Amino acid sequence: MNASLQNCYHGGAFFDAIGTEFNQLERRNEIINADVLDAWFPPSPKVIAALTDELPWLLRTSPPTQCEGLIRVIARQRGISEDNILPGAGSSDLIFLALREWLDCDSRVLILDPMYGEYAHVLESVIECHVDRFQLQRVDNFRINLEQLAKVARKHFDLIILVNPNSPTGQHISRENLEALLQQIPATTRVWVDETYVEYAGLDQSLETFAAQSRNVVVCKSMSKLYALSGARAAYLCGPVEIISALRPLTPPWAVSLVAQVAAVAALQDQEYYVTRWRETHQLRAQLSDALRQLDGWDVLPGVANFLLCFLPEHGPTAADFVQDCRAHGLFLRDVGSMGRNLGRRALRIAVKDAPTTERMLNIIQQVNRAAKSSRTSTATTLSASDSQKNAAIRSGNLAKVERTTIG
Ligand SMILES: Cc1ncc(COP(=O)(O)O)c(C=O)c1O
Repeated sequence: MNASLQNCYHGGAFFDAIGTEFNQLERRNEIINADVLDAWFPPSPKVIAALTDELPWLLRTSPPTQCEGLIRVIARQRGISEDNILPGAGSSDLIFLALREWLDCDSRVLILDPMYGEYAHVLESVIECHVDRFQLQRVDNFRINLEQLAKVARKHFDLIILVNPNSPTGQHISRENLEALLQQIPATTRVWVDETYVEYAGLDQSLETFAAQSRNVVVCKSMSKLYALSGARAAYLCGPVEIISALRPLTPPWAVSLVAQVAAVAALQDQEYYVTRWRETHQLRAQLSDALRQLDGWDVLPGVANFLLCFLPEHGPTAADFVQDCRAHGLFLRDVGSMGRNLGRRALRIAVKDAPTTERMLNIIQQVNRAAKSSRTSTATTLSASDSQKNAAIRSGNLAKVERTTIG
């Protein structure tokens, strides 16, 4: 194991501004955390009622040991058997549990590039196995060529990891097409489909039923972003009984907090509320995208989920500098250059927010954009002024002046 192992770099820098000891939580109102993809809407009122009515008791009480009730509710809501479901404290918990159990340093894994960075981190820095990347291209808007992927995927990997819809690209493979692809993959290759954002792509797009009936496909369902429960930590795996039952004994008792279990159960039973919020997300994303496209030289990619991938113009600041400048105004955005080998230095991911927050966000972005432009213009003016001084000095043969002008 790598002795200097670091954690994967994530968004969430906004907590530096709020304070991680939480003694001034009201500071959250002064910042906009568009660097993480948390829901722009609050959890269902039924979730809030279930928690607030009984909070002292929920905090002091041990939860059901293996999330028995949560498993039953997921099974009922999704139309799958309880034996196909394994809950965890967020999908990150399940990623670390399953991948470390299935793989060792000799394993071969195929991932998409770009893709959510935690996978490359766990595979390369924690497990230290062989990773092949299926390279997606900006000229195709990072759309996945299914024929090419099917060809590569047949090469007997131990595991293939797909994020669908993908982050940071926002591209989605339809359920029909993905199921057709998965049928071409050898049963000895496990396939992990991360569906953190799938309901944004459509209510009928999840592969849970397919995975439960398969021999080798496991779907990872976070409840963080779609059910506005990032802080609670709840997720589940859905897959064939043999795979799920082998992981079950490795899950510690009380892995999911009582607060998270109660919240997840209430959320799953209030689909109507969430479906409305998911629909509204598309309008909000379209408005954000239209406004960003007005900015000179910005390339805003189409996406289906609650975020947008943008490329800043080549003549302007890098994403790292732009993020830094926005941060000074309380806006946190994500430089996603590290999520893919070909993303370059100008790739920025922005979370969709409610209408008033979007307006604040756009004001800051426009302000930072203008400041970057005017500093470019004044640099260009200074440079051209010093160039003309230099030329005049050359013409008059005053070399000492040329040198002073150049140094200054
Ligand atoms: C694609 C993807 N998978 C998994 C996660 C982790 O989610 P959580 O651990 O909150 O369930 C994230 C978080 O941003 C993500 O974008």
